[in-house]
Amino acid sequence: MNTIVEPMVDLSRKEDGTNDIAAFAQDVAEGLSRRQKHLPSRYFYDGQGSRLFQQIMDLPEYYLTRSEFEVLTENREAMAQQFSREGFFHLIDLGAGDALKTKILIQELAKQQQLFDYVPVDISGDAMQQLSDSLRTELPQVNVEAVVGEYFKALEWLQENKSERKVVLFLGSNIGNFETSESIAFLQRVRSFLQPGDRLLMGVDLRKDPETILDAYNDAAGVTAAFNLNLLHRINRELGGDFDVEQFYHYAMYNPGEGVMRSFLVSKIDQDVAIKETGQTFHFDAWEAIHTENSHKYSLSSIQELAGTCGFEVETVFYDGQKKFADVLFSVR
Ligand code: AVJ
Repeated sequence: MNTIVEPMVDLSRKEDGTNDIAAFAQDVAEGLSRRQKHLPSRYFYDGQGSRLFQQIMDLPEYYLTRSEFEVLTENREAMAQQFSREGFFHLIDLGAGDALKTKILIQELAKQQQLFDYVPVDISGDAMQQLSDSLRTELPQVNVEAVVGEYFKALEWLQENKSERKVVLFLGSNIGNFETSESIAFLQRVRSFLQPGDRLLMGVDLRKDPETILDAYNDAAGVTAAFNLNLLHRINRELGGDFDVEQFYHYAMYNPGEGVMRSFLVSKIDQDVAIKETGQTFHFDAWEAIHTENSHKYSLSSIQELAGTCGFEVETVFYDGQKKFADVLFSVR
């Protein structure tokens, strides 16, 4: 293989002329106007939020990242072989970030001398630049075409390259942040750009002892609390908000019946918050909550059901030693 590192494709600019701040302001205004106040979890990841998430992944309580690392490390040979069975493919990594986990697979694919190129997709242009640079030195034989944009922009890339074989990675239990209806719509759209022979490898956090799950989202050091509260700091920084962040606290709860972890920011007092960019003031009753995140936990049957609904078939379920986490390989019928 030769060394071609293609320039990054930047799909992050909006065609409709609205900028990122306007979109953020609109989502905040809409979410805080609901009866059950809401802020979308995708806004966690500004510079500070991304740093805090890096710290979360190192927390003793946050088992997800380590467990998935183990799943990928222990099963990398089989995964690489299953990906490559029909020859050349694009390895498309949705939400690649620093791709620390994906590199396990890329290394194995390179070692097996499989024919593929790597298409990491992420909203962070900085992350994609760093990843391209690091791969150029670590794995110069692998062709990389980084894409900067949101998931749906990545889907456009998929659509444009419809005829070529693809293996889509959606790791890290990022699917868990979607509402069930959103995850179905998302997977159905991914499926619509794939054809027989293509695959999807998706990371899902599995149902387990509720205490273990709760601890992962309510760590003793308070890093997850800081991560959640950073949303309010971000509104203050970017939208001219006047949130008194001290007057809110992080509250996380797990519902084992539904298998859903939910995170909130609870107002400690009756208060008003003005946001310059939206030109509005929002009232909070004492103990009123803003819902900020869902993290779904899956069972084998819920995964089978999701696959069936979205036109996928479960090819292989790969686990870590303690069956805390799974990377599920879906094939297309
Ligand atoms: C990155 C979406 C997988 O839901 O576990 C970590 C984000 N939130 N701690 C998750 C998160 C609180 C994380 N995902």
